Amino acid sequence: MFTLDTLSGKTILVTGGGSGLGLAMATRFAEMGAHIAICGRTEDKLISAAADIKNAGTKAGHTTTVLTHAVDVRDYAAVGVMFERLTNELGQVNGLVNNAAGNFLSPTEDLSPNAFKSVIDIVLHGTFNCTQHFGKRLIDTEKPGNIVNIVTTYTETGGAFIVPSACAKAGVYAMTTSLAYEWGTYGIRVNSIAPGPFPTEGAWSRLIPANVEAGFIQRIPLGRYGEHIELANLATYLISDMSGYINGSCVTIDGGERLAGGEFNFLTQMAPRPQLKQMFAAMKPKKG
Ligand code: HXC
Repeated sequence: MFTLDTLSGKTILVTGGGSGLGLAMATRFAEMGAHIAICGRTEDKLISAAADIKNAGTKAGHTTTVLTHAVDVRDYAAVGVMFERLTNELGQVNGLVNNAAGNFLSPTEDLSPNAFKSVIDIVLHGTFNCTQHFGKRLIDTEKPGNIVNIVTTYTETGGAFIVPSACAKAGVYAMTTSLAYEWGTYGIRVNSIAPGPFPTEGAWSRLIPANVEAGFIQRIPLGRYGEHIELANLATYLISDMSGYINGSCVTIDGGERLAGGEFNFLTQMAPRPQLKQMFAAMKPKKG
């Protein structure tokens, strides 16, 4: 379906692009001819990811520029500095994938206010910060652009034990549809992808207790997890001009898992609540 120049002429920022699904998408974009910027909190991770992305672009016959920028997307001013630098060094950024996220399992009655705030800040405020700095530049220069927001299937259904993430992602979904209309008039398309289970170290270590993994996979009609390339291909399509008339849509890619109900709801039946609490507590990283 794609040719190796599907994304030529595009310069795309992927937030949280140093690992996991962000890295998979950035790598695929480079193969299709885009120049890439990735940001995240950990410089070392970004540098190693950039080498892989550049390599993928080179192998596909492109002269790929990959820029890394260490930033916490929660910091509005720092995100502005990043966009200033990207524009100076790469020219106009015309694609943005809001992928950076934070999440963990916790009974809601045990959440500290700061735990709730941390996830909302990364997912909802972080997406706003990047989206506004990105959009403002395009509107000022009267250039078209394209945003893909990574949401979740529980954006719609909600989900047990992931209330901060469900609230934040629902907000990102509302931002997607609102801006698709508001900024569509400027030629800026805004869509979202709702991935189901695509294993990554970041998500699995925080969200999938080892002894419930079998229950998790049983809920997927196709009987398997998603492969990163499947998500990366969908993102390539949505960020490319091939999808030029798709605006304000959310595309689900989950093997049909959402039809089994809210993604983490099944955990309520897996064990008595005190046992679940112990399992979740064991997954929480120690302070410091
Ligand atoms: C309860 C927790 C917790 C846990 C952290 N907190 N982990 N509370 N259970 N497991 C609380 C802390 O005690 C603290 O509150 C507050 O949250 C902030 O924690 P910090 O570690 O100080 O914050 P920070 O370093 O900014 O880390 C943010 C984070 C962390 C969200 C907590 O998990 C993170 O950095 N995640 C990024 C990567 C990630 O989550 N990837 C998965 C995304 S997958 P107090 O009150 O003690 O100060 C996804 C899609 C899901 O979203 C779909 C899957 C199928």
